[in-house]
Amino acid sequence: MITLSTLQAMKEQQNKITMLTCYEYSFAQLMDEAGVDILLIGDSLGMTVQGHSTTLPVTLEQMCYHTQAVARGVKNALVLADLPFGSYQQSKEQAFVSASELMAAGAHMVKLEGGTHMVETTAFLQQRGIPVCAHLGLTPQSVNAFGGYKVQAKNDLEAKNLLKDAKAHEEAGAGMVLMECVPAELAARVTTELSCPTIGIGAGIDCDGQVLVVHDILGIYTGKTPKFVKNFMQGNSSIQEAICAYVKEVKERTFPTLAHSF
Ligand code: KIV
Repeated sequence: MITLSTLQAMKEQQNKITMLTCYEYSFAQLMDEAGVDILLIGDSLGMTVQGHSTTLPVTLEQMCYHTQAVARGVKNALVLADLPFGSYQQSKEQAFVSASELMAAGAHMVKLEGGTHMVETTAFLQQRGIPVCAHLGLTPQSVNAFGGYKVQAKNDLEAKNLLKDAKAHEEAGAGMVLMECVPAELAARVTTELSCPTIGIGAGIDCDGQVLVVHDILGIYTGKTPKFVKNFMQGNSSIQEAICAYVKEVKERTFPTLAHSF
């Protein structure tokens, strides 16, 4: 079983961590067997599964349903579930109630989006036995505030603030930090300065691990494909082979490349 200690050891041994989004049982079995270290029940299911244009309409009940289905298919991987929009931002107590539902559904860790303003929530959850992954950079639940899906922390002040937020989450007890769409140089610096593992998506080659949306690696999402995506069905003849190829390329550091980075 992959635990937080396993992930910590992987960072220390410079053994890359693999993560994919997963929303149901059969894919969970395939990914688990292919050696994916972390299965993320991402609220991206609002777009890939439900057909919405953002992650905002996804409910806690839906996240619990998908988490249960994924957890049933897993023997080895760590199960990470997203706290959906509106289920944790109001108060740390609200976050605890929502996170405990995801844990009861089978998650081993929950992910929340946000910097300084969410640090107290990270501490509150961690102190009550709920491991937390802090999602920084492009946080899709704030797409309306950002004015679109854009690369974040491009100037010095924003980069300094992201590093400060990552350290504050770690000090509050976060077991992992995920960075989305940030300059590769910044993600590398955060990875060096944090003791806990970092996971990148559009965050360069130097994070401790990588995540992609499964629909993107299989080339079945019809929306706009970002620069950091690679279609692993190309050159592979089955879904299983494509997932194995993703794991191999991340572990061997042949994915991502500079072409997938900002
Ligand atoms: O919901 C999701 O799929 C995510 C990834 C983009 C990291 O949070």
